[in-house]
Amino acid sequence: MGKRIIIYPGVYEPAEDSYLLIDAIMPIASGDILDLCCGTGIVGLCVADKVRSVTSIDINPIAIKNTCENFKINSVYDKLNAIVGDLFNPLGKVKFDLITMNPPYLWDEEPKDISWSGGKKGRNIIDRFIMSVSNFLKENGKALFVQSTINDIEESLELISKMGLKGKIIMRKKFLFEEIVVIEITY
Ligand SMILES: C[S@@+](CC[C@H](N)C(=O)[O-])C[C@H]1O[C@@H](n2cnc3c(N)ncnc32)[C@H](O)[C@@H]1O
Repeated sequence: MGKRIIIYPGVYEPAEDSYLLIDAIMPIASGDILDLCCGTGIVGLCVADKVRSVTSIDINPIAIKNTCENFKINSVYDKLNAIVGDLFNPLGKVKFDLITMNPPYLWDEEPKDISWSGGKKGRNIIDRFIMSVSNFLKENGKALFVQSTINDIEESLELISKMGLKGKIIMRKKFLFEEIVVIEITY
């Protein structure tokens, strides 16, 4: 996509899950977007030219420094609002046209590495995201997140429906031991 990316040590190196999410948002990104768990900032960066603003949040301060640098070297820093924080917690009363998230979703008895550990069932961040996302989504907005078959896609779709929202898989890619999907949430 003609963007330059620098990856700081200790920050998640963009991988197939990042690229699948980018493929899914490219045709629909517009307005104000929120990119949770931003890592290097790659997801928001790829659509920065098409949108009004990108709010990027990560719990790792080094990831936020990395995101700022990547927006600067691609001359789109004026669109960025980069925040260190835990998921939606730093946000006040604000709503977005598009919310994206490539969360840590691998399961792990004891969370070891915040860039990929999703807790015992790999669902810690996914469940919190689904339960809060409607507070930050505009009426016609969309939220897209990535997850794997290893942490139960049906459970996500059921929780989305329990929250009174619509969920569907809009993209999927098979790998040796898992399938990675992008789930879209709307009202
Ligand atoms: C799998 S990486 C995705 C990075 C980037 N979005 C990408 O697609 O390449 C997950 C990111 O989530 C961040 N993270 C983990 N727990 C978080 C939390 N509670 N709130 C915000 N970010 C979190 C990690 O620091 C890491 O950068």
